[in-house]
Amino acid sequence: METEPIDRYGVMGYPVSHSRSPVIHRLFALQTRQNLQYELLQVEPDNLTSAIVQFANTGGKGLNITVPHKSAVVNLVDQLSERATAAGAVNTLAFQDGEIFGDNTDGSGLMRDLTRNLKFEVRDADILILGAGGATRGILGPLLAAQPARVTIANRTLSKAGELADRFSSAGNVIASRFRDVPSSGGYALVINATSAGLKGEAPPYPEAAITPATFCYDLSYGLTPTPFTRWAASLGATRSVMGWGMLVEQAAESFHLWRGVRPDTAPVLRQITISAS
Ligand code: ATR
Repeated sequence: METEPIDRYGVMGYPVSHSRSPVIHRLFALQTRQNLQYELLQVEPDNLTSAIVQFANTGGKGLNITVPHKSAVVNLVDQLSERATAAGAVNTLAFQDGEIFGDNTDGSGLMRDLTRNLKFEVRDADILILGAGGATRGILGPLLAAQPARVTIANRTLSKAGELADRFSSAGNVIASRFRDVPSSGGYALVINATSAGLKGEAPPYPEAAITPATFCYDLSYGLTPTPFTRWAASLGATRSVMGWGMLVEQAAESFHLWRGVRPDTAPVLRQITISAS
């Protein structure tokens, strides 16, 4: 009797060796008893299209897409979800019946971590986002859907914050600012770091007045030790200052659900990868 070929998944990036996605998806597969394999695929930008087509043609069922390919992939898909369209970026591909479907689970991953795992109430909150690049664009839609009172986007380059504010602010509650001009009467309920400064070892002049002991500080980046942003927030007295490990696991769970129709329990996987990281 012939055995069925095993369903293949993977993450494509450049570089990609640091990615935790293989560990996370293998833990999900074990937990939910899904028979699949998940690979680490280092692909240079010039080879992206051919690598995706080849993967799909050799038993590939789905891919995660990571830096620097998330925007480029938008143009390679047959169908794009609403949230990937709004984000202008794709982090998940599913191959079915010869078609490529593109989705973006980053924003919903953040929301699940914030609201379910960390019990933060977004509704009516005054929120500050630092940075106006792809990461901010990916989270704005889901964040605004949860009806915060106001979202201020502060960025080194004001025009980029302005473009995002214009694009996303239907209710006039998204404003753009420079770091130094951030309006902060009494601090923010939530400050999200969505810059890539920490990854590059740089320390931007973040607005200190934005932080009070009650401010929840969330870094979309994560690391083996506290990130420059979480250290900075803690040094200003913020009592809750977390890295984005939860978002990482939640966006992966959302991709897994899309591919397999099963939603894994993220709590044990989150515990396991943060323990093995520390
Ligand atoms: P993307 O490709 O997602 O846009 P990016 O170019 O690395 O990623 O930038 C992400 C964000 O980090 C941007 O908001 C960027 O600010 P600019 O728009 O002014 O470039 C911000 N960023 C990166 N390094 C920074 C630094 N050293 N200080 C302040 N902001 C920084």
